[in-house]
Amino acid sequence: MKPPIDKNKVVVLTGAGVSAESGIPTFRDADGLWNNYSIQQVATPGAWKANPELVLDFYNERRRQIADCAPNKAHIAIAKLQEKYNTIVITQNIDDLHERAGSNQVIHVHGEITKARSESDIKDVVSIGYKDINLGDCSADGQQLRPHIVWFGETVLNYNLAREHLKTAGKVLVVGTSLSVFPVANLLKKARYGAEKIIVALDIEKRPYGYRFIRGKATEMVSYISCRWLEGMRADE
Ligand code: APR
Repeated sequence: MKPPIDKNKVVVLTGAGVSAESGIPTFRDADGLWNNYSIQQVATPGAWKANPELVLDFYNERRRQIADCAPNKAHIAIAKLQEKYNTIVITQNIDDLHERAGSNQVIHVHGEITKARSESDIKDVVSIGYKDINLGDCSADGQQLRPHIVWFGETVLNYNLAREHLKTAGKVLVVGTSLSVFPVANLLKKARYGAEKIIVALDIEKRPYGYRFIRGKATEMVSYISCRWLEGMRADE
């Protein structure tokens, strides 16, 4: 028996494209991070084992950059939806721009740059703000601290929680993701037939079934969609 759709629940699933206009590079666009760094050298458990200092430097650089960036109009328009809807943000992003824009229900599935954890206990997580992590920085259990980030090959965080929210959402807005990474990309399929479903990006390889694709910048398109939804109107026509 499927749970009922909650007309008052909005789920917003975001990727790097929602933060691009804040100055944070995406991963796979022309100037994307993975065109300048090797995933194998900085974003896998093997990289951490081989050269933890290089991995720490990579994420220290990301953290400093994020500290200098501000939420953009898309983050703010998403937070504004909370005035009328139970708004759940599910983000692949490790930045804290949704929180800084005022969203108070943010589910990170790939981790958070402002947190660190023991390299041997995923539950031993500490908030570090925008401070660097250096070799020799240890958690309470005496183990080296590592970024609380999901590396390639590691298990995604909060997946079941995210899936349950998609199953009951009355409106689903997907912003700024190439849908290249699984299992998060599969979440879109959990949204229900009767829900209003929109995807916003600069480009898209394959439009997910049942979703209206709106090509454009997040700061422009998300603001438009947020206004329509706040006026109680559809945005997918
Ligand atoms: N407005 C809207 N969409 C944008 C903008 C913008 N200003 N700029 C870029 N985009 C879109 C691109 O069209 C693309 O679809 O954002 C998407 C960026 O895709 P990726 O770089 O692949 O980022 P993302 O989908 O978040 O990657 C998913 O991959 O490397 C891992 O863990 C990492 O969480 C990340 C995951």
